[in-house]
Amino acid sequence: MTDYRVPLAYNTLGDAEMAAAHEVLESGRLTQGARVARFEREFADWHGAKHAIFVNSGSSANLVGIEALVQLSRLRPDLVPSGRPCAPGDEVVIQGLNWPSTLKPLMNLGLKPVFCDIDPASLNASVETLAAAVTERTRMVIAVPVLGNPTHVAELADYCAANDLLLFEDACESMGAVTTGGARIGTLGSASAFSFYFSHHLTTIEGGMILTDSDELADMAYALRAHGWSRNLQLDGFLDFDSGEESGAIDPRFCFVLPGYNVRSTDLNAALGSVQLTRLADMVDARRTVAQGRIDALNGTAVRVPGANIIDRHSWMTTPLLFPDRDARDRGRDALEADGVETRPIIVGNVLRHPLARMLGLADHQRPLPECDGVFKRGLMIGLNPQPDAGDEAFLHEALRRSAGA
Ligand SMILES: Cc1ncc(COP(=O)(O)O)c(C=O)c1O
Repeated sequence: MTDYRVPLAYNTLGDAEMAAAHEVLESGRLTQGARVARFEREFADWHGAKHAIFVNSGSSANLVGIEALVQLSRLRPDLVPSGRPCAPGDEVVIQGLNWPSTLKPLMNLGLKPVFCDIDPASLNASVETLAAAVTERTRMVIAVPVLGNPTHVAELADYCAANDLLLFEDACESMGAVTTGGARIGTLGSASAFSFYFSHHLTTIEGGMILTDSDELADMAYALRAHGWSRNLQLDGFLDFDSGEESGAIDPRFCFVLPGYNVRSTDLNAALGSVQLTRLADMVDARRTVAQGRIDALNGTAVRVPGANIIDRHSWMTTPLLFPDRDARDRGRDALEADGVETRPIIVGNVLRHPLARMLGLADHQRPLPECDGVFKRGLMIGLNPQPDAGDEAFLHEALRRSAGA
């Protein structure tokens, strides 16, 4: 447990989640089974999507979801919206303010990450910042709506459709956010990834989900999730390649259709997710109320809260803060920490500023990202309790004003 009065993460698992976990443990059916299938159905329905595939983390959801989309484009370009394969050496544009594990599937597939800048008002890529990084070799875009902010994602989807580019959403931070047109984040690309890590909108302790309307992409993801096994496949014939003369000797219960991973989760984690999903809408409402109180508290100071202009469609995973300069940020951070408020950077700031950028020439030939650098140097974020305590929030408002020098 943390000693902070306002920590970065809060435990939202209550009596109903404990009871559901007990029931699974007592049933003796613990590995991936009926509870996982039920949580997947509920999650897909909540988003109005066709398929949801439960995995053991948001990083795994990106790993499997991105690979499923890229492999599908290579195997059957006619089945992806861009109509063309995403081949080794092709470029994928992603904003520089991202989570590093999202880059790994691109590198595994021989794709080149190209980093674009962000719009500082939302911390998301806009059509303008994306278009500046698109070249002849671009085949895919990864949208990363930051900390619950849905801004620009619908416009990025329109841009991708008009330019024959694949769109994958890394929606790990933005469950429950809604675009101006009323679409839920995670339903705009060919597929998307969610994270159920402890501090996120819905938690299974660790966990993640891939969401898609494509039957073929779902089958590819089912196989990639579990060893490349044919179990769970829903389409007849799609991944049934002829394996040659001894194919008759294969036990159909132990048939492997592609080289896969094992990133399954368990019925225990899914049971937690099912209960959390029934509470999600209320928790997102509470997040919006808490965020508004903090925005009001900082009103008139030099500290800005990106996303303050769209409070009602935002799902506010945490509260991001942008200070006027690095010294003010460092002073603000020290003041908050001294007051018992835990702080951290906004995601990673600019991924190109981290040692990982030196790996495999990842930083070579990338454009400057001044707005990502602004977040790197001037940003920090604090946790947000979706079951708020009025006393702690009032205390925090004072601490926030002190951190802003007010
Ligand atoms: C944008 C983004 N993508 C991916 C992830 C990875 O999710 P996980 O921690 O569940 O692996 C995170 C983690 O918070 C994230 O913020």
